[in-house]
Amino acid sequence: MTKNKNVFSCTNCGAQYPAWQGRCTECGNWGTVSEEAGAQVMAKKSGHAPEAVLLSSVKGVDAEHRPTGIAEFDRVLSGGLVPGSLTLLGGSPGIGKSTLVMQVAAAVAAKGPVAYVSGEESKEQLKLRADRLNITAERISVLTETDIDAIQAYCIATPSALVIVDSIQTVSSAEVPGEAGSIQQIKACTVRLLDVAKRTGTSILLIGHVTKEGVVAGPRTLEHLVDTVLYLEGDGTETFRILRTVKHRFGITDEVGVFLMTGSGLEAVANPSELFLAKDAPAPGTAVTAIVEGTRAFLVDAQALVTPTAFGFPRRLASGIEANRLELLIAVLIRRVGIQLATHDIHVNLVGGLKVRERSIDLALCAAIASGHKDVSLDRHTVYLGEVGLGGEVRPVPRLEQRLKEAAKLGFRTAIVPKQPIGKSPKELSVRQVVTVKDALH
Ligand code: TYD
Ligand code: MG
Repeated sequence: MTKNKNVFSCTNCGAQYPAWQGRCTECGNWGTVSEEAGAQVMAKKSGHAPEAVLLSSVKGVDAEHRPTGIAEFDRVLSGGLVPGSLTLLGGSPGIGKSTLVMQVAAAVAAKGPVAYVSGEESKEQLKLRADRLNITAERISVLTETDIDAIQAYCIATPSALVIVDSIQTVSSAEVPGEAGSIQQIKACTVRLLDVAKRTGTSILLIGHVTKEGVVAGPRTLEHLVDTVLYLEGDGTETFRILRTVKHRFGITDEVGVFLMTGSGLEAVANPSELFLAKDAPAPGTAVTAIVEGTRAFLVDAQALVTPTAFGFPRRLASGIEANRLELLIAVLIRRVGIQLATHDIHVNLVGGLKVRERSIDLALCAAIASGHKDVSLDRHTVYLGEVGLGGEVRPVPRLEQRLKEAAKLGFRTAIVPKQPIGKSPKELSVRQVVTVKDALH
């Protein structure tokens, strides 16, 4: 029995409709809705039954991580690139994706041939970047190719240790409707590259731009297709970059690598605490806390500027934390601690341009605001840890022991922490447990 069912879909965003329409109501593009090829739904007789094997009889294999030699990159990959895997590196334009992969290419080229397929830049531009990065590797081949068939043919004909495709938004297939960069093209080309990686045993590193909106034609739609997803983040105006694992079939996720963008490429930061602590003398309105990113803890300086409101409504500005969280902490300070902040403008900032979603920084923010309000400097050798609740209570934080260890390592002497089991606290550190924000500030 054959049932004919016409499906119309948008070649730009993939939205489906039961009938043709001139404008896609999902993405707003005109003339992109067309009848889908092969949209016939066949109700077939059942076919040949496949054979299943017992899970217990399957021989396990360890994923073979090959270190690239760039320590922070290998860290987020749980050891290195796995042969035959497809890794997606996402990030906003200009953040440093091409710079990072060029550095990875150079490191891998010491062990085997590397191909850099670029649809974004010319060979000359790639050379210019390589020169800037002082890359002299012999075994990096460059191709300015955007046709997926040609890329596939190259990968099969020329065995490489690593193939870089920069970026997925520029690659297209003649068999798929839509322009390069449309959802359908991006999906089809990624599936092809996945197949090429598996068949040839080559590690493929795919770059994808994330638009500000993060949705249309963004690599987000590809996350389930690829083996590994990395994101390179950072504030465009700051020099540090964080490389984060979002998905990893061959290791742990949520690991981060920290880099500094320098005049000659990305430099690994072995000790991120130094980056996020203000170097100058203590000033009123700063308090230090420790955050955990991935498996690492590092110290961060929270700063607050508290000034009387000139007229009208007080202004509250938060950079690095959510604005709502700041409002909440201010309310707690007013109501539970009794600090008169209702007629003060408050600006809060995390040094280094870091963005933190963790609640464990609450207590440090409260301390910074209180110190800014009183115009008294806090002890520079004290670290504040704790989530703050609406009742003004200081709540436990995860992985306290690890945070305390990092503080001790950097020469801190006192820690104000929630009442919770601590485990082994470093003996250089005098640990004071507090129940409420009020206790902590006293
Ligand atoms: P790029 O890697 O081209 O970004 P993406 O591929 O993510 O779009 O790099 C973007 C910025 O980095 C560019 O504005 C220049 C800067 N940059 C440096 O600061 N130092 C360097 O060594 C290089 C190569 C780039
Ligand atoms: Mg680029």
